[in-house]
Amino acid sequence: MKSQQPLLSVRELCVDYITESGDVRAVNSVSFDIMPGEVFGLAGESGCGKSTVAFSVARLHKPPAYISGGEILFKGENILHFDDERLRSYRWRQASVVFQSAMNALNPVLRMEEQFCDVLIAHNPGLTRYEAIKRAQELLAIVDIHPSRLKDYPHQFSGGMRQRLVIAIAMALNPELLIMDEPTTALDVVVQREILQKVYALKEKFNFSILFITHDLSLMVEFCDRIGIMYAGELIEVAPSKAILTAPLHPYTRGLGNSFPPLHGPKTVLEGIPGTPLNLLEVPVGCRFQARCAKVHDRCRQEYTALAEIRPGQQAACHLYADGLADDELASEPLIFAQAAGC
Ligand SMILES: Nc1ncnc2c1ncn2[C@@H]1O[C@H](COP(=O)(O)OP(=O)(O)OP(=O)(O)O)[C@@H](O)[C@H]1O
Ligand SMILES: [Mg+2]
Repeated sequence: MKSQQPLLSVRELCVDYITESGDVRAVNSVSFDIMPGEVFGLAGESGCGKSTVAFSVARLHKPPAYISGGEILFKGENILHFDDERLRSYRWRQASVVFQSAMNALNPVLRMEEQFCDVLIAHNPGLTRYEAIKRAQELLAIVDIHPSRLKDYPHQFSGGMRQRLVIAIAMALNPELLIMDEPTTALDVVVQREILQKVYALKEKFNFSILFITHDLSLMVEFCDRIGIMYAGELIEVAPSKAILTAPLHPYTRGLGNSFPPLHGPKTVLEGIPGTPLNLLEVPVGCRFQARCAKVHDRCRQEYTALAEIRPGQQAACHLYADGLADDELASEPLIFAQAAGC
């Protein structure tokens, strides 16, 4: 899976929203890499900036959002410098998206055949309609839908099937990166898992990379190789997915894990995270998590802290480590959730 060159390299990305109350920095200096064939997850509370990152990576952000700093390198090319033509081929051939609102992404008045042909022919001008339909049939088979259903309209499919149709369209041009933002949130847990297993099997077969966003930490740990945790617009921890549960470094990551009820094992009292998410119009000096952190100390209120490698392959943005203040509990004790999940 790993190779030397990342497929995607997000470097110190900053995204602002222009609002009546002033500019809101929704994403602040976020950096991460996704390797070829890797599944990278982004997790964090609602409003922490996950979708803003995903939209930026697809270059689908629109005003009032604007990218105020940083680079997004796809195979070394900065996508922020792409012109319209280059962007068109980037969006389907290189990076393809399945968003939160994917259920509404299908055109209700067109048969599925038209919707597949539109994408395929627009991006392959030499393709005949017959060839496009053949390819559409193959794509449907990949997501376990009978090719004859190409004649149907979106409303004739169940929610889970519509979601698989959207995934099939997203895969129409064999993208190298699939961006999935809450792709299955509207579906029940069984269908959700089935669809993700299908996507994972496709990833194994075609070796594309995935940027995966979901609120469900257990799904994320199951499907991702590495996970980035965001808090108030910043990436505060990046780790192999199992380490997020068993050996979290940042107090927020620990709190996030402890906010999930275990499925097995004895009943436990959930600790949760005290306080409320930060108002991005009132960002404090120093660490953004300081008001909610049980381990806060003076430096946290004075100095910004960037991501730094604390363990091999595991980065955190927290002063505790540089200051030698991390206790064993924070550095090594497994979470309640992780114990219950048998990690
Ligand atoms: N159009 C907009 N105008 C102003 N602020 C916005 C706009 N869209 C998003 N924001 C702000 O940007 C921040 C990040 O939003 P974003 O949608 O990226 O969060 P998220 O992590 O995807 O949340 P969720 O888990 O609820 O989907 C939030 O504070 C949000 O209020
Ligand atoms: Mg979102």
